[in-house]
Amino acid sequence: THWKHGGIVGVFGYGGGVIGRYCDQPDMFPAVAHFHTIRVNQPSSKFYSTKYLEQLCDLWERRGSGITNMHGSTGDIIFLGTHTPQLEEIFWELTHNINQDLGGSGGNLRTPSCCLGQARCEWACYNTQHLCHTFTNEYQDELHRPAFPYKFKFKFDGCPNCCVASIARSDLSFIGTWRDDIRIDPEAVKAYVGGELVPNGGAHAGRDWGAFDIQKEAIDLCPGQCMAWDGSKLSIDTSNCTRCMHCLAVMPRALRIGKDTGLSMLVGAKAPILDGAQMGSLLVPFIKAEEPYDELKEIIESLWDWWMEEGKN
Ligand code: HEM
Ligand code: HEM
Ligand code: SF4
Ligand code: SF4
Repeated sequence: THWKHGGIVGVFGYGGGVIGRYCDQPDMFPAVAHFHTIRVNQPSSKFYSTKYLEQLCDLWERRGSGITNMHGSTGDIIFLGTHTPQLEEIFWELTHNINQDLGGSGGNLRTPSCCLGQARCEWACYNTQHLCHTFTNEYQDELHRPAFPYKFKFKFDGCPNCCVASIARSDLSFIGTWRDDIRIDPEAVKAYVGGELVPNGGAHAGRDWGAFDIQKEAIDLCPGQCMAWDGSKLSIDTSNCTRCMHCLAVMPRALRIGKDTGLSMLVGAKAPILDGAQMGSLLVPFIKAEEPYDELKEIIESLWDWWMEEGKN
């Protein structure tokens, strides 16, 4: 490769958000002598209007390569390739005209990201977008001014389906869950068994798999072995339910998440090259996710205090 690694570039007042890239043959390839990447903080759950996307693309065609990545693994909108003199101009236009901020890079809080949550999904156990947006604002200093020994990521999943894969991809993951019983609609269960309702929300309807078999497709696959079907009535022993989401996905019209909802916090997922990927470990089994989220902030901040003293990169 003819790319030199790294190099410090950025915008005034921020320590992250721009990743420097330089070509080692600038005389031969002057147009890409610099090819810096810009991380732009995506809106929670990545909802856009076409007008807004047009503004982003106009800005990037004018001041950068025009190549974007929607979205990076971190969640950000990625602008690929621009020259150093463009950086302040881009930052000014982004913040003043498009009302959008840079994301994180380096040893700081990386741009928080969340699943689409209560905006679209009946399984969301808390408002992922609100929590993500609140913490993005709350921790602006940590996001823009690298003070950590290494990068640090939050991700917010509304339920254990983990659509943003927080359990594998973030240092601190917030996964929605509930404390009470799964709500069972006995009539709808019978309708699935009787074939009036299509299982799995119709996801496997493209092929004939035969009649729905509740024993084989739900009960026997329950990791908690806590479901029972006596031929007319379904029961669930909540104390052994791991909230794996399987039965809810198979019979979404019959089974719903409980009403006493909150989230679990997991810590320490990483992908070391020699040992392979590791999931986060359970830190807080259940905590309510209610405004102003003071209990959550207390955990985050004490964890950071300890890590900034002890952490090594
Ligand atoms: C000297 C050349 C380059 C080096 C050393 C480099 C290195 C890196 C590194 C270290 C990351 C961050 C990974 C992380 O999330 O921790 C990254 C992200 C990325 N790079 Fe590069 N890169 C280079 C050039 C390029 C080029 C030329 C492209 C595309 C044309 C590109 C596309 C990307 C993309 C799409 C991401 C993901 C951004 C994200 O997920 O947030 N990179 N690169
Ligand atoms: C047969 C060819 C390819 C396969 C099987 C493949 C497979 C994948 C998979 C599985 C991922 C997701 C990784 C993850 O986040 O877990 C991924 C991500 C990615 N691939 Fe490919 N890929 C292929 C070709 C390409 C090509 C040709 C390019 C670019 C020219 C490309 C660019 C990327 C980028 C930029 C990402 C990361 C997106 C992000 O930042 O989230 N891939 N690819
Ligand atoms: S993680 Fe759960 S709540 Fe969020 S979008 Fe996925 S299924 Fe819905
Ligand atoms: S959510 Fe999973 S563990 Fe709980 S009852 Fe359903 S299948 Fe069993």
